Amino acid sequence: MNDPTYYNDNKLIRPYRVGVACGACHIAPYPDNPPADPENPRWENLASAIGNQYINEGKVFACNVEKGGFFYEMLATQPRGTSDTSRIATDHINNPNAINPIFLLAERERIAVPEKMAGGTLALPGEKEEMPVPHILKDGADSIGVAGATIRVYVNIGMFSEYWLTLHDRLIGLLKQQKPFEIAYARDHSIFWRATEERLANIAAFFRRLKPFHLADAPGGQAYITTDEAIMTRGKEVFAESCAACHSSKQPPPNIDPRSGEGKTWFRAAVATPDFLENNFLSNDKRYPLTKIETNSARAFATNAKAGHVWDNFSSQTYKELSPVDELEFFNPFDETRPIKFKPKDKNVGPGYYRTPSLVSLWSSAPFLHNNALGNFNGDPSVAGRMAAFNDAVEKLLWPEKRLNKASIWRTQNECSLHLRKEFVPKPLRRFADSDGYIKIGLIPKGTPVNLVANLEPDSQHAGAFFKIAEKLIKIKIGKLSSEAAAAELRKLVPELIAANKCPDFIEDKGHYFGTDLPDNDKRALIEYLKTF
Ligand code: HEC
Ligand code: HEC
Repeated sequence: MNDPTYYNDNKLIRPYRVGVACGACHIAPYPDNPPADPENPRWENLASAIGNQYINEGKVFACNVEKGGFFYEMLATQPRGTSDTSRIATDHINNPNAINPIFLLAERERIAVPEKMAGGTLALPGEKEEMPVPHILKDGADSIGVAGATIRVYVNIGMFSEYWLTLHDRLIGLLKQQKPFEIAYARDHSIFWRATEERLANIAAFFRRLKPFHLADAPGGQAYITTDEAIMTRGKEVFAESCAACHSSKQPPPNIDPRSGEGKTWFRAAVATPDFLENNFLSNDKRYPLTKIETNSARAFATNAKAGHVWDNFSSQTYKELSPVDELEFFNPFDETRPIKFKPKDKNVGPGYYRTPSLVSLWSSAPFLHNNALGNFNGDPSVAGRMAAFNDAVEKLLWPEKRLNKASIWRTQNECSLHLRKEFVPKPLRRFADSDGYIKIGLIPKGTPVNLVANLEPDSQHAGAFFKIAEKLIKIKIGKLSSEAAAAELRKLVPELIAANKCPDFIEDKGHYFGTDLPDNDKRALIEYLKTF
């Protein structure tokens, strides 16, 4: 490996070097055959691509991060079962998101609609100027087809890191602007890229074989589903009228608007057929703006796939041209009477859309929403454990008054400061380094919303504001103020922190209010039907 003659010979395939195995994040207990002891599963108790719903990413990837630092506090609030896939390369938004299951890829490909590829680069084999693509990732950013979306993940977990790592500043991202990972360059210079690319058809074939898990097939599962046919029939009708326009891959013919009266009639007939759920991806795979979905915006504002950013080559031109969502209002934890107004088009943020997720095997995947923030996490992969989580999440979904609301804001649980190694910060700040080589920013009081600090925007034109704030926070530290005095100083900085914030949207379990105004009986009937997905 260290001999350049061999290393640069792109005809040689060497032992494959992997940073992290895909399975670390994608494998979890098998819902229909749960392990008797979750700590000691047998192979048959594991599902290949259900998404690791139990991973504790902070403990796995940063087990030696110490208390006292802001990073420790940030990781402590990260929901279980999530991964922040834009932490490296960072987009300066704290947006960990659920590792969702992968199901029915072939059906998803069948309903894919054409998008314009970036500049018609024809970067990947089979890629055309315009081609149908599934909307991969929560924001539908990976939109150049299954092959391109898949190989990007290999880069993200270590393949051809010798190039990838030159394109951004890992983790902190303060010193240089991201540059795009050029597919053409990788193909010319990396045997690892080429060897992986040759095998992508195999992994796509594997994804296409992944089938839903049904509650009725799980031990004792049938007992959780109503035997009252009238309730089940009503549940189907409610789903047809309130949900199916978005949550079904079986859609009316193009001349019927799925949301119209005629569309609802079509869906009512469709849900009554015995095979409606069969091979149904339970999503239309379309992207919807935050103004309609209203869930937490952090993940939809991710920037890595925008033009000129690290994953530029892996998103379509259509994605890049999505018009930014209109102005949003966020809850202001510092002054509840004055919501934070946020204009995405004036900010360096992504366009602000979420694609409809699949509801396949929904009974097995609570908590809900892209950030896994809706519903209790109980860490119990038994059928009873999954159903307890499902019931809690689905009630919060349909009765929003049961949600945590303000209590879902991620806050620091201890007083802390942000520790940055001297060599990772821009020169003007280095003079503040302690003798141990760290710059310590703040005293950040206990109870501070994590994203007030985590989502600060240090990119190019906003860098000035970032450094000004950092300096003021450093002075709080240097002043050795009491906790109360430090909290008062930080409070004075709040307007600046919010103005320089890439996403000051703090409530995690809000939004997606579809179906919330239905009568209670209809909600109960709908829940029975959802259990059968
Ligand atoms: C560090 C954790 C992690 C690892 C390792 C990982 N993934 Fe993922 N994966 C995720 C997360 C989180 C998501 C959801 C991201 C999103 O939607 O924004 C995801 C989503 C996906 C999706 C898209 C699913 C969809 O419905 O849109 C595919 C495909 C995928 N991963 C494949 C892979 C492959 C192949 C590997 C190994 C090369 C891999 N992943 C390794 C965390 C991981
Ligand atoms: C306008 C399209 C639309 C309609 C109508 C709609 N949804 Fe959704 N649904 C979405 C989108 C988009 C998300 C992703 C939101 C997020 O994660 O932030 C979602 C997420 C969900 C989730 C969470 C899934 C997961 O993987 O965590 C559930 C459950 C759900 N919807 C159920 C329903 C039900 C039940 C109805 C009908 C009462 C419904 N939806 C109506 C678009 C829609």
